[in-house]
Amino acid sequence: MTQLSAAQTKSSDSSKALYGGKGTRRITVRDIALAKERGEKWPMLTAYDAMTASVFDEAGIPVMLVGDSAGNCHLGYDTTVPVTLDEMTMLSAAVVRGTRRALIVGDLPFGSYQEGPVQALRSATRLVKEAGVGAVKLEGGERSHEQIRLLVESGIPVMAHIGLTPQSVNAMGYRVQGRGEEAAAQLLRDAKAVQDAGAFAVVLELVPAELAAEVTRVLHIPTVGIGAGPETDAQVLVWTDMLGLTGGRVPKFVKKYADLRAVMGDAAKSFAEDVVGGTFPLEEHSVH
Ligand code: KIV
Repeated sequence: MTQLSAAQTKSSDSSKALYGGKGTRRITVRDIALAKERGEKWPMLTAYDAMTASVFDEAGIPVMLVGDSAGNCHLGYDTTVPVTLDEMTMLSAAVVRGTRRALIVGDLPFGSYQEGPVQALRSATRLVKEAGVGAVKLEGGERSHEQIRLLVESGIPVMAHIGLTPQSVNAMGYRVQGRGEEAAAQLLRDAKAVQDAGAFAVVLELVPAELAAEVTRVLHIPTVGIGAGPETDAQVLVWTDMLGLTGGRVPKFVKKYADLRAVMGDAAKSFAEDVVGGTFPLEEHSVH
């Protein structure tokens, strides 16, 4: 059975499916809530530019995250920490312009919401008004619940992000979260806190599969896993990891679906050799 037909057997009306459904209008957070009710699993990818986003949109990816992973994967920083709200606004606007159907979630970067709810509202408002995103994402469970509550009360849908939160790399490193009784209990408290504050979904990053499965059972909002095992409602991957563009090592939880780094490198070498050898351009590439 294909992945799509497996999802459809659980779905009461497969034409409404987030992936593979017939809908052409822009997906909303209400569609995401209905997918959880139907028991439908869905994919999310990051995107940082209009052209890549248009490819994923045409492939039917229903939710795209303009993640602050743009810091490492697009802007050349070592971590997500230096990414600014101006950068996120510019990248998010490009992704919105490149898509017609996907729900676009814009990430609030480090320093744009930690001061409190009012700062969070000011930052999220920029992403919604200037970039046109349909929702924002921010990191933190209990510690961010006041920010989430004010954004949701103000009409801005929020995707929360708990477990490994890369903006806190200087404090927590890149380590599995939620291991051990106390850490698992804290993760559950964080998950419930963001749900109670009104988040429409929550990313679980790098947590044990068993714990992610429990959180997914307990919550009525969808969980989006990355390095969190197979039981979450949705799965997200960073597109440059998933398509093999990222250089060097990628995390164990990444599945590489293509080797774009090799494809692009080989193409660049072929072009260079053609130019040096005088075999490009040819007559067919020339105008007279
Ligand atoms: O910024 C990002 O890409 C993310 C995903 C890893 C969930 O937060």
